Amino acid sequence: MWTILAVNVILSIGGSLVILNVVPKFRDMFVKAHLSGVDLNKKNRPEIPEAAGVISSCIFLIVMFIFIPFPFSKHFFNKEWGFPHQEFVQFIAALLSICCMVLLGFADDVLNLKWRHKLLLPTVASLPLLMVYYTNFNSTTIIIPKPLRFLLGHDLDLSALYYVYMGMLAVFCTNAINIYAGVNGLEVGQSAVIAGSLILFNIIELNGDCWSNHLFSLYFMIPFFFTSLSLYQFNKYPARVFVGDTFCYFSGMTVAVVAILGHFSKTALLFFIPQIANFVFSLPQLFHLLPCPRHRLPRLNQKTGYLDPSVFQFKEKSLSTLGRLVLKIYQLLGLVKVENAEKDGELSQSTNCTLINLALKLTGPKHEKTLAVSLMILQVFSYLSIL
Ligand code: UD1
Ligand code: MG
Repeated sequence: MWTILAVNVILSIGGSLVILNVVPKFRDMFVKAHLSGVDLNKKNRPEIPEAAGVISSCIFLIVMFIFIPFPFSKHFFNKEWGFPHQEFVQFIAALLSICCMVLLGFADDVLNLKWRHKLLLPTVASLPLLMVYYTNFNSTTIIIPKPLRFLLGHDLDLSALYYVYMGMLAVFCTNAINIYAGVNGLEVGQSAVIAGSLILFNIIELNGDCWSNHLFSLYFMIPFFFTSLSLYQFNKYPARVFVGDTFCYFSGMTVAVVAILGHFSKTALLFFIPQIANFVFSLPQLFHLLPCPRHRLPRLNQKTGYLDPSVFQFKEKSLSTLGRLVLKIYQLLGLVKVENAEKDGELSQSTNCTLINLALKLTGPKHEKTLAVSLMILQVFSYLSIL
């Protein structure tokens, strides 16, 4: 086991070195292909190559393809053991789902798909995975958390609903990372923190009964961690590349794949606390109870050079009753700041409902670099709070 893990680490480090080498070479090609975006929070608004996640995800896939024979090598030399076809199919299906998601994410970056497509894509990409889960495990029983056992009993068979839950997990992981973004380095930084924490969790669990599931997860998480770390070098402040939706989808799907096939999907959600908080907080804007501008990332204050929370404008009358109620509750809880947008006019404005804007509202304006690092530290602290 340790030799195979060592091979995995060596290949991952090799992959990360290749990324450090090739990303600068591809930058001009991306711009020429019109794959670029404006860095909205810089004074001179530079044009930055977008979708560099496609490079890191392809290198990740190449590392995984080279690695495939190693976990199965002992079966090649000891023919009488028989080949573990189920495990092999599981491996290939996981890579197929990740590969699909990279393709669909890249399509999103090139074609700028609509939100309904963004929700549909991960569901489609997770189908091979769910098929393998059905044929290999088909265990759809969940253990009920202790406080709810008096109501629901010790365990509950969700049958078909369990598959809906797993499909939704893929949709959640991909989109939750994508909407917790907009500050240089945050997309890749949060993914690296999640991967690093999952690696620690998997290593600890290698001593337990389900060690093989956690070993399977490590095979994917180690290359993902190293390749993300390399990409972070180019995406951190001041960003030299944007990673695009390609990376967000790739990252979310890779975590969803190991969580589903590693049978720790509920535990994996504990590694997404800031993303869950941001997602829940965002729901009124995502479902258009409140106006949702194209970009909700914080805005640069040209005078101070610091980031302020971004806002959306609205007329009180144009909001639905539910929208008005939600905004009132958010305001009472101190989650948003609502004020008049113009003197004596009807137009009001509220800070956008994201955790990033909330952090700025609570702690004051910040430099983009400080904000990104603080949000990553928050992610680490959220784990410590659940330990
Ligand atoms: C999601 C968010 C949106 C946020 C955007 C930026 C929701 C519903 N959508 O949209 O609010 O503004 O991500 O990540 O919450 N950009 C920067 N600096 C960065 C990263 C991105 O300026 O550090 C800008 C660039 O112009 C880049 C663009 O954001 O081209 C990428 O946005 P895109 O990924 O297409 O936005 P969405 O994922 O649709
Ligand atoms: Mg995006």
